Amino acid sequence: MAATLRTQVAVVGAGPAGMLLAHLLDGEGIDCIVVETRSEAYVAARIRAGILENSTVDLLRSVGLGSRLDAEGHPHRGIYLQWPHERHHINFASLVDRHVWVYGQTQVQRDLIEASRAAGRRVIYEVSDTAIHDIESDQPAVTFTDMDGRQVRIEAGVVVGCDGSFGPCRAAVPERAREVWTRVYPYSWLGVLADVPPSTDELIYAWHPDGFALHSMRSPTVSRLYLQVPNGTDASSWSDDRIWAALAARLGHGQDGWELYPGPIAEKSVLPMHSYVQSPMRYGNLFLAGDAAHIVPPTGAKGLNLAVADVALLAPALVALLAKHDTALADAYSDTALRRVWRCTHFSWWMTTMLHQSGDPFDTQLQLSQLRWVATSTAGATGLAENYAGLPLGF
Ligand code: DHB
Repeated sequence: MAATLRTQVAVVGAGPAGMLLAHLLDGEGIDCIVVETRSEAYVAARIRAGILENSTVDLLRSVGLGSRLDAEGHPHRGIYLQWPHERHHINFASLVDRHVWVYGQTQVQRDLIEASRAAGRRVIYEVSDTAIHDIESDQPAVTFTDMDGRQVRIEAGVVVGCDGSFGPCRAAVPERAREVWTRVYPYSWLGVLADVPPSTDELIYAWHPDGFALHSMRSPTVSRLYLQVPNGTDASSWSDDRIWAALAARLGHGQDGWELYPGPIAEKSVLPMHSYVQSPMRYGNLFLAGDAAHIVPPTGAKGLNLAVADVALLAPALVALLAKHDTALADAYSDTALRRVWRCTHFSWWMTTMLHQSGDPFDTQLQLSQLRWVATSTAGATGLAENYAGLPLGF
């Protein structure tokens, strides 16, 4: 039996972009239905980055999503930038009067799921065969097969693609109407979640001849660590001992008395690194937000923050469009969002290429020169601080 549902906004994807958009629209009286291919348990558990920018935190607080963040999140004044025998602290708080929070995307997702349940919002998990229709018309639609095998059609005023890089929305924009820019990096990250207290108070980004390493954290008892590895690496080829030995070498265990404490590894996986930008972020009555429109390499933790910035622009644009028939913000959405997207695309590329071994000795000398400049010049450090802590949403 086919069923037809009606709503104002059909959102494809129940990750942080889709769930936050539904939260913001619901708060303004706009009805949404969210569809998601994965199960709620999968979406709630998947491990992603853990750094929130100043403006992301301000937004979450302003819409009632800040209580657990304030209780469990950890404000960080800055980061450490290091290379062999040198470690420098870049203090964002003193350089740009903004700072960041350590609070995992997994925790943000859990807060969004709880708020959605409490409000009784319609989120349909475990759908398949999702397809987007009639986006050039005033009545676009999303069709899918639900978990019980029923064919469902959602008729909406607007469809929003928050379905990441593997979902159908980005490809629903006709090829003749879209432009795409990509960069594939010649290395990946091996990410590790370890049940051990962090060996540092703030994140350490380490340049090393063996490859980049990052010491991050999730809580006072859980550390998150990353190692640069070759593309195509199988995570199972890295034993726990090999991981801790590589982290100790690259992060400088023993230098100036600093020690890295190893512990049980709960999870390890390999993340490929690439940049992707698709323009426009709106075509007819299909809007794209988050990873559906753009991917950044993880260095600098911009992915989630950029998705939140898209949604912060898109929600008022859709409210104006659907409640007041005012098209100005919706018409400006793509150009306005892409300005921040390109800033973060550049920053993520810059952090990535400054810190990873490319195999080219000329790059090595440029990287070390740039690291010294960023770490020791107020002008250099301020550029990093402003971008890392995050430009204001209206930038
Ligand atoms: C984390 C990930 C990042 O890419 C980064 O730059 C900083 C922190 C993290 O997972 O904690």
